[in-house]
Amino acid sequence: MPRKIIIDTDPGQDDAAAIFLALASPETLEVLGITTVAGNVPLPLTQKNARIVCDWAGKPDTKVFAGCDAPMKRPLVTAEHVHGKTGLDGPDPLPAPVMPLQDQHAVDFIIDTLRAEPAGTVTLCTLGPLTNIGTAFSRAPDIIERVQEIVMMGGAYFEVGNITPAAEFNIYVDPDAADIVFRSERPLTVMPLDVTHKALTTKPRVEAMRSLGTPAGTAMAEMLDFFERFDVEKYGSEGAPLHDPCVIAYLLQPDLFTGRHVNVQIETQSELTLGMTVADYWGVTDHKPNAMFMQDINADAFFNLLTERLARL
Ligand code: BDR
Ligand code: CA
Repeated sequence: MPRKIIIDTDPGQDDAAAIFLALASPETLEVLGITTVAGNVPLPLTQKNARIVCDWAGKPDTKVFAGCDAPMKRPLVTAEHVHGKTGLDGPDPLPAPVMPLQDQHAVDFIIDTLRAEPAGTVTLCTLGPLTNIGTAFSRAPDIIERVQEIVMMGGAYFEVGNITPAAEFNIYVDPDAADIVFRSERPLTVMPLDVTHKALTTKPRVEAMRSLGTPAGTAMAEMLDFFERFDVEKYGSEGAPLHDPCVIAYLLQPDLFTGRHVNVQIETQSELTLGMTVADYWGVTDHKPNAMFMQDINADAFFNLLTERLARL
């Protein structure tokens, strides 16, 4: 039986890759819904972008919900400098979504779904700031123990930060929500920058997607053409880190990743290191491990998986 997941996301070109990967893998993953949040760009764009991606995937029956439009306690920080004005810059023109947006608020959908499904059968896949999840957990604490697992793109240890010298974007935007999730005591698997900075969109990898000749393959390649320029310039790397699909790839093929089960705490006070994921990677405290914090990826196998699944759409 496929594993039931909710994808919580702020598309984003790399979020789009994650959504494609999940929707192309119905034998393993049942996408109960896609919940959108403000992050890379404001909510009116992320909810729209999620629907555009479902249209490209040929899956217009997917349920897409709009959630929180600002972090729990702070003003929103966005990343148009990485993702472009629309959040999905690349394909020109970017089409308007055809499929509808659900009426229900994303947080209500998360709460209702976790209450309705048998306990321990729904996995939360988080690809953006954790506002929707933090809000759902605060409003309905009874749902926390019903979560099967949380698999998250966020944080960093060795790579430290990308939006500030100390913090990764998804955690930095809503550290208070991230703190709630890291304290939730549910099984938590984290794909930090340490992993995603090894999943680079090299030219042959992007060309393999383009050569599929499908709407999803072409759109993905065009999105990555745009997405790459920022990180190539910033890091001098061969391509851009494809962060978010690592979450879905983990559910499809966990052996692509290796890491450590460690204690991770979120900095919510310091101005200098706000949103830092303080990981006890070397076990220097006796704090209880609360997260499987990944460090390495088999990048060739990851891109093969992604391209093979894109070909199905
Ligand atoms: C994360 O931030 C966003 O820009 C990406 O979509 C990814 O989820 C990487 O730090
Ligand atoms: Ca994202």
